[in-house]
Amino acid sequence: MKRVSLTQYLVEQQREHGMIPGQLRLLIEVVARACKRIAIAVNKGALGDVLGSASSENVQGEVQKKLDIISNEVLIEANEWGGHLAAMASEEMDSIHVVPNRYPQGEYMLLFDPLDGSSNIDVNVSIGTIFSVLRKVGHTRGVSEDDFLQPGKHQAAAGYCIYGPQTQLVLTVGNGVVAFTLDRETGSWVLTQSDIRIPEDTKEFAINMSNMRHWAPPMRRYVEECLAGKTGPRGKDFNMRWVASMVTDVHRILMRGGIFMYPWDQREPEKPGKLRLLYEANPMAFLVEQAGGAATNGRERILDVVPCKLHERVSVMLGSRNEVDRVTAYHQQTE
Ligand code: AHG
Ligand code: MN
Ligand code: MN
Repeated sequence: MKRVSLTQYLVEQQREHGMIPGQLRLLIEVVARACKRIAIAVNKGALGDVLGSASSENVQGEVQKKLDIISNEVLIEANEWGGHLAAMASEEMDSIHVVPNRYPQGEYMLLFDPLDGSSNIDVNVSIGTIFSVLRKVGHTRGVSEDDFLQPGKHQAAAGYCIYGPQTQLVLTVGNGVVAFTLDRETGSWVLTQSDIRIPEDTKEFAINMSNMRHWAPPMRRYVEECLAGKTGPRGKDFNMRWVASMVTDVHRILMRGGIFMYPWDQREPEKPGKLRLLYEANPMAFLVEQAGGAATNGRERILDVVPCKLHERVSVMLGSRNEVDRVTAYHQQTE
């Protein structure tokens, strides 16, 4: 079997489909290389002294794990010198990281959740890195936080790397979704799936059920109907999965369908949700839509949401189209 590498895939996208300018190609290759380094750290576990918490909190008041910090540093270090970026933003940094003056500035901006699913690090369950690429619009010199506040539909590329039984990179440049598997012997990313499609229907939902009593009525209605099974209004039995690593839950949905939800709840009513719009919801919504699925916040398409701040949160419902349409309709009806 002929093996297609990440480099070959990107060159072909650039040459044949005009999807990828040179700077973007370099950017994706650099992110993929950084993910290899993170994978090595993740795999070492206790042997590399990377487990456990650091003695710090991020801007969102969450205790940082050692691997959150290591992964963030790896991504920054790998990306700042190439000349392809103007600035970066991360879950683990209060404000944006502008490319230092000693390096040329490029036209792209990279956003990431360096290590997603942090609560799973110490229990050896799959975790990942999520990234989103925006282009700096306008020709003004310099870059500010405002440049990052673009709706997700303007993403130039998005993807994630999952550190699981296999290390895989799942990517979209706006021309479908593809997956590469890391070949540890050769160190290269090999294309293992092209044109990933999410089935329109599903019998599998993913949500943290322990929050049920705090949900809004449309959310409860949707899940209660799933739980009612064959003799309920849906007329079929559902299965439930919740890994608590968004990367892993979304990966399962890309592979075999399903719906993933992290809705608003009434404990902190002013917070629109738990997940962050710019570096969690947007890249996943881009991937899911490119695979034929849907992604909303219950009211509108996630990719249409205009962000007001860097670490903005959002409700997330994504995956198999018919289920996302249904839960979204329930929310819209009650408005
Ligand atoms: P992170 O580790 O980057 O903070 O993200 C964790 C997120 C997401 O990966 C997951 O779906 C969700 O939080 C899990 O939340 P619960 O612990 O509430 O289940
Ligand atoms: Mn996360
Ligand atoms: Mn994280």
